[in-house]
Amino acid sequence: MMAAMLRSLRSSTTSSRFLRRPYSSESHPERKVTVLGAAGGIGQPLSLLMKLNPLVSRLALYDIAGTPGVAADVSHVNTRSEVAGYAGEEQLAQALEGSDLVIIPAGVPRKPGMTRDDLFNINAGIVKSLSIAIAKYCPNALVNMISNPVNSTVPIAAEVFKKAGTYDEKKLFGVTTLDVVRAKTFYAGKANVPIEGLIVPVVGGHAGITILPLFSQASPQANLSDEQIIALTKRTQDGGTEVVEAKAGKGSATLSMAYAGAIFADACLKGLNGVPDVIECSYVQSTVTELPFFASKVRLGKNGVEEVLELGNLTDFEKQGLASLLPELKASIEKGIKFANQS
Ligand code: NAD
Ligand code: LMR
Repeated sequence: MMAAMLRSLRSSTTSSRFLRRPYSSESHPERKVTVLGAAGGIGQPLSLLMKLNPLVSRLALYDIAGTPGVAADVSHVNTRSEVAGYAGEEQLAQALEGSDLVIIPAGVPRKPGMTRDDLFNINAGIVKSLSIAIAKYCPNALVNMISNPVNSTVPIAAEVFKKAGTYDEKKLFGVTTLDVVRAKTFYAGKANVPIEGLIVPVVGGHAGITILPLFSQASPQANLSDEQIIALTKRTQDGGTEVVEAKAGKGSATLSMAYAGAIFADACLKGLNGVPDVIECSYVQSTVTELPFFASKVRLGKNGVEEVLELGNLTDFEKQGLASLLPELKASIEKGIKFANQS
């Protein structure tokens, strides 16, 4: 069963190529990756997947508690990186110092009946304080924000970094990869196309109707009806809620999110290492629409964002989706900015 699971992981997407050779001994530059919230539902499997990534040389696992155990456990995996656990605020500086990439899955998850925005009151404060520490201890690191509501937590981090004088718009990313992972899975199932190598861009944001899959740009294309595209769009937008309801009060997506987070972190590391043509969707500072932050395809490079790609041609249905999502996304961005600037 384990062998079958590994085979399926290895064949699921081209961008998960790093999972194919977890024990690679190729030489890569030294890269420190820090996971903030490493003892949580996402943090633990994400830490394991980052331990499997040969591009990582040092893995720092931070949480308010529980990280010594997670770090001891993960550290026994026989791959390249050295693992260290850090618990409590007094160890946050050490966890961050020298980091090239900080991944943030810290914060509370949804329960059935909640929206991602219902998490704002707790998670905004967590993200703000972690961002203050990043600005202080590793101001040049790339930051992958997973904590919800991503539509607001990314603007919060940006404001904190601006205040600290360390903001570099090329280095801050909202992780929307799970939307792409879902869109690919649902599309492949419906369209009966191979999932390996499948491309489906997902743009906008990361909550409800702000998640806009562009199935018209899926490659390979399949001849699906308008009704099928509408249903696939809705399922992608409601993917998080599907998991929250199935978990019935025990949290939200953790395993698929760890997988998606590991894919996005791997893309960032490849970009830093100068691998050409690394493209993933992400929620970043953007001029693609009138909003200051927007998710679209992004080319990753040695400094983080190399290029934010335009949306391309949209169908009337996708244009409608874009028009409907802008007011909600705008409000979430403004909410984050306002919160960050309160004393
Ligand atoms: P969880 O409760 O299982 O884990 C969260 C972890 O964060 C806990 O270990 C907790 O101790 C830690 N934490 C809390 N405050 C902290 C702080 N100040 N510093 C460091 N760590 C702190 O939750 P989870 O299921 O892992 O989800 C985490 C977050 O990720 C939630 O906000 C969830 O909504 C979000 N999420 C985002 C996506 C996405 O696509 N971007 C997908 C799934 C979940
Ligand atoms: C997801 O898309 O699974 C996450 O944003 C978690 C959630 O609350 O749905």
